[in-house]
Amino acid sequence: MMKEYIASNKDRFVRELIDWLKIPSVSADSRHREDVRKAAEFLKGKLVDAGADKVEICETKGHPVVYGEKIKDPSLPTVLVYGHYDVQPPDPIEKWNSPPFEPVIKDDKIYARGASDDKGQTYMHVKAFETMVKHDQLPCNVKFMIEGEEEVGSDNLGTFVRENKERLKADIILISDTAIISLEHPSITTGLRGLSYVEVEVTGPNRDLHSGVYGGAVANPINVLCQMIASLHDENGRIAIPGFYDKVVNLSDDERKAINQAPFDPAAYKDDLGIGDVKGEKGFTTLERTGIRPTLDVNGIWGGYTGEGAKTVLPSKASAKISMRLVPNQVSSEITELFTQHFKSIAPKYVKVKVTAHHGGEPVVTPTDSPAYRAASKAFEEVWGKTPIPTRDGGSIPIVALFKKELGLDTVLMGFGLDSDALHSPNEHFGLRNFMLGIETIVAFYQHYAKA
Ligand code: BES
Ligand code: MN
Ligand code: MN
Repeated sequence: MMKEYIASNKDRFVRELIDWLKIPSVSADSRHREDVRKAAEFLKGKLVDAGADKVEICETKGHPVVYGEKIKDPSLPTVLVYGHYDVQPPDPIEKWNSPPFEPVIKDDKIYARGASDDKGQTYMHVKAFETMVKHDQLPCNVKFMIEGEEEVGSDNLGTFVRENKERLKADIILISDTAIISLEHPSITTGLRGLSYVEVEVTGPNRDLHSGVYGGAVANPINVLCQMIASLHDENGRIAIPGFYDKVVNLSDDERKAINQAPFDPAAYKDDLGIGDVKGEKGFTTLERTGIRPTLDVNGIWGGYTGEGAKTVLPSKASAKISMRLVPNQVSSEITELFTQHFKSIAPKYVKVKVTAHHGGEPVVTPTDSPAYRAASKAFEEVWGKTPIPTRDGGSIPIVALFKKELGLDTVLMGFGLDSDALHSPNEHFGLRNFMLGIETIVAFYQHYAKA
């Protein structure tokens, strides 16, 4: 039986994942270029071991894509599994209780960068596949496309998808790179936000100045930048960029009610984050604020002197990185343009402003009335004993919208992480229970999807 096989191979599955997590595949950091490749090679080996054919490291202009497949019978449905083997930088490294690339198991969780996002979740697919192949119970064709640039915007994956349309032909895309509500309340993600990401630079005087000699007479670009940023939200927490909300789809009362029926404990939420209160757009609940409403957040801000002690300086420049999370039907390039125009228009005469666009991505909503969604729902029912709740997640996986556009394919976002897994934060972790149940649920998905 497949369930017994998964249970009795747990130690080996976890050991293999730990070996993979030891490879620091930080896609954003060019010093880790070779490590990213090593992680791709590792995955290639494991796909081969699990029984995949035509396993290949596919070169791109950036980090490679790992491809593999098992075509049982062209008349069977084909599942295209997407995941990413690259990880976020581990910084701030001193906040980790154990080194990010020396995985440890504590309280039934693996602690390491990438444990949940997304090596741990991707590896569940490799092991679910191994299990089905071993038992000759793979009821669908499978294709794996695991990339190494998700955390830096998947810049080259679009080209890869466009150039490999034939090879990537499938019936459904299956991704585990999102979260469930909790182990007690399994859920399936039915929407992801899009993203516009910009960097702004405000320049005042042509050089750093003595803050006593010139201070009070010359605009300080850090002060100005802070005022400009503060003006981007109004007193109701709405984004004050003209046109920003024009294309936002407002949900019906019933849809909003459904979203708010998901279990959510405000006190536990605040407690977990150590905050005195939540804060967001007036008139919306926390679940709505992260699920169906757009945002604007400063991700980093710098300028002037930040070293030890004090230096009296009126800096020449100040900068910030700003992300905007988008919801249907906002368009990333349009929002970037609206931001750019607005930000330049509010610049006072005494500074110059430069806006540079970084990567973006479109929001998505996935269908809940499809055979694939129903198969995923049944798989959860079978393994978790509960019907999964559809949820809108706040994060972004820009490639999902691209799959729809380029391949015409819908995605099932069957993630098994938790929001509290500390993705992108120090002490990222992944529950071993999530890992094991995830493998079982993926196996069950294939069985139900083949019947649909
Ligand atoms: N897996 C996350 C996205 C995610 C996390 C979706 C939790 C839903 C719940 C993904 O790896 C990620 O971090 N995406 C980036 C976007 C990318 C363009 C850098 C993000 O959301 O910031
Ligand atoms: Mn991810
Ligand atoms: Mn991520």
